[in-house]
Amino acid sequence: MAILKIAKLGHPVLVKKTNEINNLDELNLKKIVFDMSETMLDVDGIGLAAPQVHLSHRMFIFRNPEIEDDDKINISVFINPVIEKLSDETEDDWEGCLSIPGMLGLVRRFKRIKYSAIDLNGNNIAGEVEGLHARVIQHEFDHLNGVLYTSRLAHKSAFGYSEEIEKFWKKNNDENKK
Ligand code: NI
Repeated sequence: MAILKIAKLGHPVLVKKTNEINNLDELNLKKIVFDMSETMLDVDGIGLAAPQVHLSHRMFIFRNPEIEDDDKINISVFINPVIEKLSDETEDDWEGCLSIPGMLGLVRRFKRIKYSAIDLNGNNIAGEVEGLHARVIQHEFDHLNGVLYTSRLAHKSAFGYSEEIEKFWKKNNDENKK
């Protein structure tokens, strides 16, 4: 396994639409997935899309925090995914991205989505998800179309360095809830 170099905001691979994967064996996809997993865990990420490691393929990996506990890491692989909203209901929450390190943005996402994809063994997978799980999938899916979360901000000003966001935005939000 190997830790891969992560493309940062400004690299053209991040704004390019990716290509469908037609032959799982030809690409040595297992090695790509292992390397991407190691890379994601090394920087404590929750998801990583192929363009972020300079590969213009329609695939991403992500962790599902809702089914993980302290000694279990669960990494899903989505190849050629398709997603669809299940309702118009949206939610705003803070997101970061390994390609935009040190920054956070308040991003509007659909609350509930359905997905279909191919897994690493070539099996068709599908499901309906909501909340953080749905958010992570929408974030990674956007990467496959060259879209970064900065173009989906809930407010134009809701973007900045994480330490400032923690200090000024999240604190205010918590106080507002009291
Ligand atoms: Ni990202």
